[in-house]
Amino acid sequence: MPRTVVITGSGSGIGAALTALLRAQGDRVIGVDLRGGEIDADLSTPEGRTAAAAAAGEVAGGVVDVVVTCAGTSVPGTAMVTVNYFGTTEFLTALRPALAKAEQPRVVVIGSISGTQTSDPDVITACLADDETTALEHAERAVAEGRARQLYPSSKAALAQWARRTAVAEGWADAGIPLNVVAPGVVLTPMTTEIFDDPEMKKIMDRAVPMPLNGYAQPEDIARAVLFLASPGNSHITGQVVYVDGGAEATLRGPADF
Ligand code: NAI
Repeated sequence: MPRTVVITGSGSGIGAALTALLRAQGDRVIGVDLRGGEIDADLSTPEGRTAAAAAAGEVAGGVVDVVVTCAGTSVPGTAMVTVNYFGTTEFLTALRPALAKAEQPRVVVIGSISGTQTSDPDVITACLADDETTALEHAERAVAEGRARQLYPSSKAALAQWARRTAVAEGWADAGIPLNVVAPGVVLTPMTTEIFDDPEMKKIMDRAVPMPLNGYAQPEDIARAVLFLASPGNSHITGQVVYVDGGAEATLRGPADF
C-alpha cells in the first residue's frame, strides 16, 4: 500500500537518497526544502516551520503516514539551533494530528553521533524547555566566545533527548506513532564535502568519529535504516537513538553506555 511521506531536507544528501528509495517502492514523497521540493520553506524561523507544516498537511490531504526530518546544517552558527532543533521539533509537533489520522504512522528524526560529543548545556536546557529566544541567546554567546562548533552537538543532543521524551508522551506512543532517531557517523554528502577537501579537517574528523565497520557511510546506508524504522514492520521500536555509524558510538562510549 503506497504511503504519503513528508521529508524535510529532501533536496540533498540523506533526504534525497531516502526520497529516491521511497519513490522507487511506490510511496508518495512530499519534499520540504529551502528550494526545489514540493514545498519550499525556511525551517529556521517559526513562521517558516508553521507554514511548511500546514502546507505539507494540506498537500497530503490531512493524513500523513510518515515524517522524516533530514533538514539540517553544520555551518557553525545559530542556524544549527534554529534549523536542526526547532526546525525538527516544531515541524513534527505541528504534523502530529495528521500523523495520528494515519493507520500506521511513523516518525524518524535524523540526529548525529555528534550528539554524544562536547556541547553547551545551557543551549540544550533552553531547547528542551521549548524556549527558542533563550536558546538563541546562549547560542549567540557561544558564537561570541568562539565556541560556535559546540552548537551542532548541542542541537543533536537536545534532539535525541526531545525524541526520547516525546516518543512516550501523551499523543505519540499511545496514539500508535513510533518516533525514533537515526544518528549517523560520517556520511558522504554535500555537508561533509568541505571536510574531505581539507586533509587537516579530515584527520580531526577521523579521530572524533572512528568508523571501524565499513568506514564512511553513503547516504543510502542511512536511508535504508530509516526505511525500516519508518515501515509498518517497525511495530515496537520507539524512543530509540539508533546509531548508524560504523561502530563509532560503541568505540567512543564503550560497552557500559547503552
Ligand atoms: P545536506 O547538506 O546534503 O542536506 C541538508 C538539507 O537540509 C539540504 O537539502 C538543505 O537545503 C536543507 N536545509 C538546510 N537548512 C534548511 C532550512 N533552513 N530550511 C529547510 N531546509 C534546510 O546534508 P546531509 O548530510 O544530507 O544531512 C542530513 C541530516 O543528517 C542533517 O540533519 C545532518 O545534521 C545529519 N547528519 C549528517 C552527517 C553527515 O556526515 N553528512 C552525519 C550526521 C548527521
